[in-house]
Amino acid sequence: MATEFELTPAKTVDLENSIMLGDSERLLKLLQNDFVDLTVTSPPYDSLRKYNGVGDTWCFEKFKEIANELYRVTKPGGVVVWVINDKTDRGSKTGTSFKHALYFMELGFNLNDTMIWRKTNPMPAVRQPRYADCFEYMFVFSKGKPKTFNPIMRKTKFGGKNYDSTAKNMDGESGRHKLKYVVNSEAVDYNVWDIAVAQNKTCHPAVFPYELAKKHILSWSNPGDLVLDPFAGSGTTLLAARDLGRNYIGMEMNVGYFSLCEERLFGTKTCLENLKEKT
Ligand SMILES: C[S@@+](CC[C@H](N)C(=O)[O-])C[C@H]1O[C@@H](n2cnc3c(N)ncnc32)[C@H](O)[C@@H]1O
Repeated sequence: MATEFELTPAKTVDLENSIMLGDSERLLKLLQNDFVDLTVTSPPYDSLRKYNGVGDTWCFEKFKEIANELYRVTKPGGVVVWVINDKTDRGSKTGTSFKHALYFMELGFNLNDTMIWRKTNPMPAVRQPRYADCFEYMFVFSKGKPKTFNPIMRKTKFGGKNYDSTAKNMDGESGRHKLKYVVNSEAVDYNVWDIAVAQNKTCHPAVFPYELAKKHILSWSNPGDLVLDPFAGSGTTLLAARDLGRNYIGMEMNVGYFSLCEERLFGTKTCLENLKEKT
């Protein structure tokens, strides 16, 4: 039976490549200042899910405690990717996603980008006076300027073609000058990512796609860096981090999901063999 993680003399600082059972509000306090290169995580969305009772304690005050710790443990130039959405409560979106983003900025994080995960296979819409929901926010916060950016590239439509045109002069004078260049075959990817919702073969209700974690880890960290997920759930971020040669630390409060993380990472159960999506 798994027991709550405690720091003992035998487990002093070597927390890398471990999954800890417990409340991340407490566990984050065990990490040193300026320790983590990248956090990729998804907290509970309002009170949308209960996570077997864990969701009952989730509130804005608790979020703030965890956000404070995330700021403290993030290295200068480190990044926090916060994947989140709002619940609809009595006809209104809660706006919690924005409240979180503004609080992170109050702490001193830069809002490096507001990215969108567009679901290519969203849930069918129920009849409501609004358009069908098909995305989640991916706020990218950085402690100062991001120290790592390995952009994912996309092929350009007119790559390799000659661009031959004229443009207005920049000196404020009237007139135009000739422009002539060859269009690059690749450009930095857009900040809206189309990714299918993970086919959930686990007992976890809110697994995010392996591809989503993978793309962020590739973008904002290098091999050997430390990747954190303080709401590990089924361990998607940790799995992708390990596959990409990064170190990882996971925290999960629910004992069942904690065991699921261990099974996914250390492969003890055959029913989970096909869990990792092929990307
Ligand atoms: C949205 S899910 C994360 C899913 C994860 N990204 C995945 O792919 O499986 C949020 C998780 O955070 C856990 N959780 C909620 N509050 C927590 C806390 N204070 N400390 C640690 N884990 C917590 C819940 O049990 C749940 O598994």
